[in-house]
Amino acid sequence: MEFSQLWLGIKPLKGCSIKTISIVCKEHVEQACAAVWELRNELSELLPEVSFVRGSADLSIKLSIAPLTEPESYTVTSNGTSASVTGGSGVGILYGVFALLRGIRLYGFGEFEECGSPTSPLRMLDHWDNIDGSIERGYSGRSFFFKDGELLINERTVTYARLLASVGINACAINNVNVRFGAEMLITEKYYTKLTSLIELFGRYGIKLYICVDFSAPISVGGIATADPLDPAVQSWWSEHCAKLFSHVKGLGGFLVKADSEGRPGPYAYGRDHADGANLLAKAIAPYGGKVIWRAFVYNCSQDWRDEKTDRACSAYETFKPLDGRFEPNVILQVKNGPMDFQVREPVHPLFGAMPKTNLMAELQLTQEYTGQQKHVCCLIPMFRSFLDSRTCCDAENDSVGDVICGISAVSNTGDDFCWTGSELAAANLYGFGRLAFDRFLTAEKIIAEWCALTFEDELARRVTAEILLGSHKAYEAYTVPLGLGWMCKPNHHYGPDPWGYEFDRWGTYNRADRNAVGVDRSHSGTGYAALYNPPLAEVYDSVNSCPDELLLFFHRVPYDHRLHSGKTVIQHIYDAHFEGYEQAEHFAELWKTLEGRIDERTFRNGCERFTEQLRCAREWRDIVNTFFHRLSGIDDEKGRTIYP
Ligand code: GCU
Repeated sequence: MEFSQLWLGIKPLKGCSIKTISIVCKEHVEQACAAVWELRNELSELLPEVSFVRGSADLSIKLSIAPLTEPESYTVTSNGTSASVTGGSGVGILYGVFALLRGIRLYGFGEFEECGSPTSPLRMLDHWDNIDGSIERGYSGRSFFFKDGELLINERTVTYARLLASVGINACAINNVNVRFGAEMLITEKYYTKLTSLIELFGRYGIKLYICVDFSAPISVGGIATADPLDPAVQSWWSEHCAKLFSHVKGLGGFLVKADSEGRPGPYAYGRDHADGANLLAKAIAPYGGKVIWRAFVYNCSQDWRDEKTDRACSAYETFKPLDGRFEPNVILQVKNGPMDFQVREPVHPLFGAMPKTNLMAELQLTQEYTGQQKHVCCLIPMFRSFLDSRTCCDAENDSVGDVICGISAVSNTGDDFCWTGSELAAANLYGFGRLAFDRFLTAEKIIAEWCALTFEDELARRVTAEILLGSHKAYEAYTVPLGLGWMCKPNHHYGPDPWGYEFDRWGTYNRADRNAVGVDRSHSGTGYAALYNPPLAEVYDSVNSCPDELLLFFHRVPYDHRLHSGKTVIQHIYDAHFEGYEQAEHFAELWKTLEGRIDERTFRNGCERFTEQLRCAREWRDIVNTFFHRLSGIDDEKGRTIYP
């Protein structure tokens, strides 16, 4: 199947006088060989007339390892006639080569200098791909890793590895955290050969392979009666099974585990805790350098909506905070950015400021489950950047989320469609996530400008797309769910508005709207969630007076005429945001239309179709949410706009 090369797609450079290029690399590590291949491949496409020579040339490029620097860091210098790429290892060289090529594509063959060093050691993509080829919360076609129970390795896999390496991703979990349809068998002999080939392929690009495993594998795979982590038979089963797995499948990075969450098996069934569970696997794979990434997404998903004290937002904190210090050194706790579930706006998860003795990694979601399912443009990079910058107040300084984590992961938004991400504009999220994970100090503006310039040749297309992308999350938030409330989408598939869709359900996802007030009281008078933050954050969130407007209804239940810091009442804010958010979406769609004939036809049409759907759906969001609150509150819009009866 044909597929796009995304930001690695190369158009020939016009007006360049370079006719000969020499590449010198004496480092015989595999990633340096991949780097040489990338250089030759990309330069011969950029300059179709060029020949590669030994000795003197119009452009000489030298690649080398300088063992004193960080393994994945690099330095690139170029003056138009000679270029040097120094890496701390083969992977550093590879990253440096991608930086050089990016520089050439962005600025041509002039003076160029760049140093790079990752701000986070582990930079990971998590695929929710099932082995039957379907993708949980996938909006971009079917899986390119699996089909009918088989692991696929082909041209597409190679391109994917190149794409990931080009933005600095160094780990990838290929199957769904919900280990479905027989995927527990991925750790058995049937898959050894294919997994080994994939590890070799990924390894050339500096990427470690992870797989999601079933906590109850001793039962489902091993056929024994229990999966109790403290049972010696279970411990020896994991040890022996992993000894075999890791000796055949050399270089496997480790396991990613969802346990005791949304029906997945876990240690609770045996009266054990999550440290017992994670440490069982960690000890079994420690001898092979394996890591266990254990998810903190644990909550009671059979709640009673009448119960106003149980709060899903508190759950992960209450479960994991007492376990701080009890995890094996090769366990990493993977914590979602917010305490609920990838809503358009949530406060930062309180666990980031609460587990100084535990390796923590952040989990973000690129697949737009709650943010428009790749039918709406919603660029998440500004949100990710401010999340990483958020203070946790766990220390006087160096206390931001970016400071306290050792890794960052995101649920992938890719599939097997032509453009990989369903919407061509959603590829900016994939690119941006990698760039930000590698260097958390890059601004969203810079990242988006880069992606636009690497994607479009036309100057106007670059400008227009950057404007759309940078404003898109704010617009999506405005016409969907107000002031941090969350959960007003349709149940199950999570697309489109349904203000009470989750109100009387078991998932712990309520807005508590009635004719007098709206929001969830998570202050000291409510569920007490605000107190889980370190001071002064706890006080800031606890008080209705100091809580930021954008999160007000997440933390407080207030009357509709409550005045925000902005000066507006809550109800007027809801009306204004919905009208303005919709207008913004209309503006984006109009802007896009101006690109007809300036960008390739396929991309243009892809955008047009999606904008048509975005406007249809945004109109539904606007009118349903406004009507819902108008009916409940009985308060008219100050500006007299149409709200349906
Ligand atoms: C959400 C999502 C599920 C997913 C879960 C998770 O609840 O809807 O499909 O399995 O997150 O992160 O495990």
